[in-house]
Amino acid sequence: MTASARDPRRVIYTADGPALIEGPVELVTADGETIHCDRFMVALCLCKRSRNYPLCDASHRTRRPQGQ
Ligand code: FES
Repeated sequence: MTASARDPRRVIYTADGPALIEGPVELVTADGETIHCDRFMVALCLCKRSRNYPLCDASHRTRRPQGQ
């Protein structure tokens, strides 16, 4: 079931991973680029290690070097 215009959009924070948002969504980046996401669930990167930032590419699963 997707959110209708009257339902609040649900954002799910995961432990050590992305924030999950029910799609479709349009993301506007800090530099003004608009990204259209048609998936039923969109994963936003919170760790900033994604090569596809602001979308999660599962890079959060890789181990960080010690001291970071
Ligand atoms: S949260 Fe998944 S790559 Fe950053």
